[in-house]
Amino acid sequence: MDSNQTILITGGAGFIGSHVVRLFVTKYPNYQIVNLDKLTYAGNLENLTDIEKSPNYTFEHGDITDAAYINSLFEKYNFSGVIHLAAESHVDRSITNPMEFVMTNVIGTVNLLNAAKNAWKSDFSGKRFYHVSTDEVYGELHNPEEFFLETTSYDPRSPYSASKASSDHFVRAYHNTYKLPVVISNCSNNYGPNHFPEKLIPLMINNIMHNRPLPVYGKGENVRDWLFVKDHARAIDVIYHNGGNGETYNIGGFNEWKNIDLVHLLCKIMDEKLGRPEGTSVKLITYVTDRAGHDLRYAIDANKLMKELGWEPSLQFEEGLTQTVEWYLANKEWLQNVTSGDYTKYYEKMYK
Ligand code: NAD
Ligand code: TYD
Repeated sequence: MDSNQTILITGGAGFIGSHVVRLFVTKYPNYQIVNLDKLTYAGNLENLTDIEKSPNYTFEHGDITDAAYINSLFEKYNFSGVIHLAAESHVDRSITNPMEFVMTNVIGTVNLLNAAKNAWKSDFSGKRFYHVSTDEVYGELHNPEEFFLETTSYDPRSPYSASKASSDHFVRAYHNTYKLPVVISNCSNNYGPNHFPEKLIPLMINNIMHNRPLPVYGKGENVRDWLFVKDHARAIDVIYHNGGNGETYNIGGFNEWKNIDLVHLLCKIMDEKLGRPEGTSVKLITYVTDRAGHDLRYAIDANKLMKELGWEPSLQFEEGLTQTVEWYLANKEWLQNVTSGDYTKYYEKMYK
């Protein structure tokens, strides 16, 4: 791979994307990293203040559903690689507004595939289109012995997972039909710093901080497989550089938790960090109406990635969760800005 390449990272102002941008900008000073982001409610340039002045970093404000704009970006920069993370990412929002998920996750992905195909058609060598996807495309598991493998059939059950499954299919179709060099990874639930507080872990942390009810859907029996976001970013680095052409890799930390057990653990860590008597935060737990079509269990078998590419998760869950809680407690302003919407002003101040 070209050691002076220019890489387009989409969705780099979001939760996972910002960790990927930071890793690539700092680890590969010879690469030029272009972060393309629409700055939806989930995109926040405050996630990147530490690296925004780096000479190998550029921000582009734009929408992946705009084909003409995407094509012009490929003309402006001579991209060798694309790491595509931009998406609508929250299952609950997909239930209330599926069309937004079709537009960004499906149409947006096809626009990027088309632009890459057209820009690279004369020479695919040294090129790579990496689609960052989710384990939710595989559906839900019932048998506790079962795990999602790369060969597991797709069975998406929410509008979010259906849109991600569709985009995965398009990526594979472009590989098969046009020989576009692609790689896909399907990762389990991430947690860590900069996670938007609509998702389970940051929502609970924020509510505990403010003594608000902790809404647990249904009986809290659903199981998720949690991975620290920086471990996901490290996996993306390894797969981008060493993954096989046309291959798929599942990413996960073999770390399954029932939602209710996870919320109990978070309450314990938060009580400790806030100097409250143990048992204070647990009293805030409130069982609420279950999510429509709520998937029971996700669990990733990450053996292919571990054995073939030598990646492994670096953090134990309790350690990662403690670091995450500490980050939110030390960054109350970030949390305040994203919950009040003030973070959008950062873009206006810095880039307008
Ligand atoms: P996020 O919602 O935090 O960030 C998404 C980013 O994409 C935001 O910065 C947003 O502004 C940008 N974006 C949205 N629509 C856009 C558009 N039309 N054009 C340009 N930019 C747009 O999401 P995340 O949790 O960081 O997830 C990133 C990717 O990883 C997604 O593709 C998601 O499906 C996948 N993923 C997430 C998880 C998880 O646990 N969060 C797990 C596995 C895979
Ligand atoms: P979430 O963080 O939305 O991720 P995903 O739906 O992609 O797995 O939710 C994680 C789990 O937590 C999921 O089983 C739904 C549940 N949940 C709650 O019980 N309460 C909440 O307020 C939220 C946001 C999620």
